[in-house]
Amino acid sequence: MTRVSDFVDEKRLWDRHMAIAEHGKTGNGGVNRQALTDHDRAARAQLAGWAHARGFEVLIDEAANMHIRREGWEQGAPVVLSGSHLDTQPTGGNFDGVFGVLAAFEVLEALEDGGIRTRRPVEAVVWTNEEGVRFAPGCTGSMVFAGVAPVGDLADARAPDGARLGDELEKTIATTPHAKRRKAGLPLAGYVEAHIEQGPRLEAEGLTIGAVTGIQGGASYEITVTGEEGHAGTVPLSLRRDAMRSAMAIVQGLYGLMADPDDIVKFTIGRFQAHPGSPNTIPGKVVFTLDFRHPDAAVFNARADAIEAVCREQAGPCGVSVFTRHRNQPSVFPGEVVAMIEQAARDLDLPVMAMPSGAAHDAQLIAPLCPSGMLFVPCLKGISHSESERAQPADLAAGARVLADTLAAMANA
Ligand code: HGY
Ligand code: MN
Ligand code: MN
Repeated sequence: MTRVSDFVDEKRLWDRHMAIAEHGKTGNGGVNRQALTDHDRAARAQLAGWAHARGFEVLIDEAANMHIRREGWEQGAPVVLSGSHLDTQPTGGNFDGVFGVLAAFEVLEALEDGGIRTRRPVEAVVWTNEEGVRFAPGCTGSMVFAGVAPVGDLADARAPDGARLGDELEKTIATTPHAKRRKAGLPLAGYVEAHIEQGPRLEAEGLTIGAVTGIQGGASYEITVTGEEGHAGTVPLSLRRDAMRSAMAIVQGLYGLMADPDDIVKFTIGRFQAHPGSPNTIPGKVVFTLDFRHPDAAVFNARADAIEAVCREQAGPCGVSVFTRHRNQPSVFPGEVVAMIEQAARDLDLPVMAMPSGAAHDAQLIAPLCPSGMLFVPCLKGISHSESERAQPADLAAGARVLADTLAAMANA
């Protein structure tokens, strides 16, 4: 029996990764292609060009989510969707997100190469701003697509360089070649996202495919501590409203809140800025971010709900405000989708295991809309969000083959 996976082309898939890697390439083997920058727009344009050359339709919505569509025979049938993101961390790797986008596109090409028709249309999607580095919240595109927030509510978000999200979205939409406008959101028959694991388990256990059971809860905050600027040499400590001293007390209090003897809580302070940032001026303001994750909804929500109180308790003579950048509940993928992915892997004689995801993904936003799932492939030592992120061509092709047969089953069910 001919399978779509028979037409997945390992070299073509790898070469496309290397071509996308050029957009925002750094000198250390990684990439800095932050959301809605010219590098992001160039990578999107390259993919749109490949899609157009294959005769696929390119569509873009008001959140700049870019869809590549291959028609099915049943008019008006709900879409089978697959994809991920092209935006990266500032010191990112060439596979986080990119693999999910290019594997989905490879499935469209394999269907075309095999002359295989499907009942339902199959679309590959590039979600906007999954990483949430330049603009909050992360998963902007999938959030708008899922109807969690209209794009108008997010448009005034500012990047550290002052750029306004709404302006950058419009610029990206306007400059995407061959793209037809379509409103965000559409009836879905299913969604599967392929991704590198961003953890060490598959590699350590000698497995090729992870059938993802769910994603842990994740929340991100921006905390602003406000004090009073002053001369470092003349203001007595007893009279200071030192934003740095209060911020450090708050950080200690938050580490106390997040203490976990089982070492399951993930807690990260990734950005910490003092203003004005002069060595001899008492900081009048400190702004820092907090990233917190946990798989158990009760623990996740109890700790998240306590964050603001801890900040206030520890603020001393300073003021403090807590802005929630995003807060996504733990999500569980339906067992039947996990089983489809496991079966597709076994049919291809690929070693597979069911496993949870520590990293967040757009799939978390899509899961409430339709039967959804994810599949993982290994990455070197589980390293990600690093320029040392690496993956093997054979593993990427294996993941694309499992994706192809899973999507084909969804598209013809
Ligand atoms: O932060 C995350 O988990 C995702 O990689 N953006
Ligand atoms: Mn990712
Ligand atoms: Mn990431």
